[in-house]
Amino acid sequence: MNILLIGSGGREHALAWKIKHSSLCNSLFIAPGNAGTSSYGNNIAIDIKDFDAIAQFVIEKDISMVIVGPEDPLVNGIADYFADNEKLKDIAVIGPKSEGAKLEGSKDFAKSFMEKHRIPTAKYRSFNKNTINEGYEYLETLTPPYVLKADGLAAGKGVIICENRNEAKNNLKDMIINQKFGNASENVVIEEFLKGKEVSVFVLTDGKNYILLPEAKDYKRIGEGDTGPNTGGMGCVSPVPFADKTFLEKVKKRIIEPTVNGLKKENIDYKGFIFFGLMNVEGDPYVIEYNVRLGDPETQVILPRIRNDIVSLFQKTWEGSLDKQKTDIDERFAATVILASEGYPGSYKKGIKITDIDKTSDSIIFHAGVKLNGDEMKTSGGRVMAVTSLSNDLEKALQLSKSNAEIINFKGKYFRKDIGNDLIK
Ligand code: AMP
Ligand code: GLY
Repeated sequence: MNILLIGSGGREHALAWKIKHSSLCNSLFIAPGNAGTSSYGNNIAIDIKDFDAIAQFVIEKDISMVIVGPEDPLVNGIADYFADNEKLKDIAVIGPKSEGAKLEGSKDFAKSFMEKHRIPTAKYRSFNKNTINEGYEYLETLTPPYVLKADGLAAGKGVIICENRNEAKNNLKDMIINQKFGNASENVVIEEFLKGKEVSVFVLTDGKNYILLPEAKDYKRIGEGDTGPNTGGMGCVSPVPFADKTFLEKVKKRIIEPTVNGLKKENIDYKGFIFFGLMNVEGDPYVIEYNVRLGDPETQVILPRIRNDIVSLFQKTWEGSLDKQKTDIDERFAATVILASEGYPGSYKKGIKITDIDKTSDSIIFHAGVKLNGDEMKTSGGRVMAVTSLSNDLEKALQLSKSNAEIINFKGKYFRKDIGNDLIK
């Protein structure tokens, strides 16, 4: 079949790589894609917000499956657009409709969903401009640190953690009154701080059944030792040793099953990935956030460990037959290290020449912010590429990624050298 993949990050390069391994995939198109995806299919310059243009392309190229990488088109209703159109409704769209995408698109929706379905999460309340004084009072009842979350999508920047109450009050005002995150912070969730170890768990669901995919640990801060500002993610490891069998069993029973059953009960038709951002609090899992897509760079360690044909998994997701599906997971460790532009996550230069990728060996290089300029590769983003390696030994996988990360060359290259160190015994 012909397949369209939507997105342009390292996640989409990894998806394109995996989709192209499938015998079911005939032609692959990526909108808009990046330098890496162009090795596996045709990059198409379509604006991913322009559903009319996407639909026209899908019909023209006889595409029968659309895989949506990022959350924006999902929250904006790409799956609904297809489902509501007579000519498009039978095309398999992997990604939920807008109602299901609210699990990521609205923190308030996600929190009340969890409350309704008794899914463990931090205690919370939501506030807006009419109730901001109650928000200040609520802060008085909590102990620091304080967690403030913009309700809507804020490009991963909508969470503020404050050490003192005054700072929290100022931020609450900034978010609600001064619209720090635009409309996204019209409503703000204030929640209890959870102390523990973070881990991300992923499933693919057809709305009734689900399959558990490999879990991952992401390193979000820019600086070594988890210091400095948050980024999209500077590295990842899978599997995560502290997410042992007992913990994952609790995750299934307390979190995944009530979530999938909750969607079913609420008649929310959901076909796609669910990404559970979890906190392991003394062995018990709590949901920090839901995402309705795969993570970046989590995908770059998850997909290399899945031996199943991914397109076949997507087909079963669309048909609603994931109950008959078994996963085949590589037991080895996968580790990825992100090469970033100097200055990221603040401002950074683009258009810097990248060389020496051909000198690397034994790692998979996934491109993110890379553009082809003739035969030359140039940086085009903050996170430039991910270097993934697999080994039975976590330390070896990390070492391999780091030595290949040293080899790849561009001016201002930065990467964290401590990814995964906390997981090595
Ligand atoms: P999010 O954008 O929801 O992933 O939040 C960004 C980061 O803030 C998370 O990865 C956590 O490290 C942290 N965080 C969010 N909510 C909480 C919470 N309730 N307790 C502790 N840390 C949190
Ligand atoms: N790496 C975190 C995310 O994709 O949301």
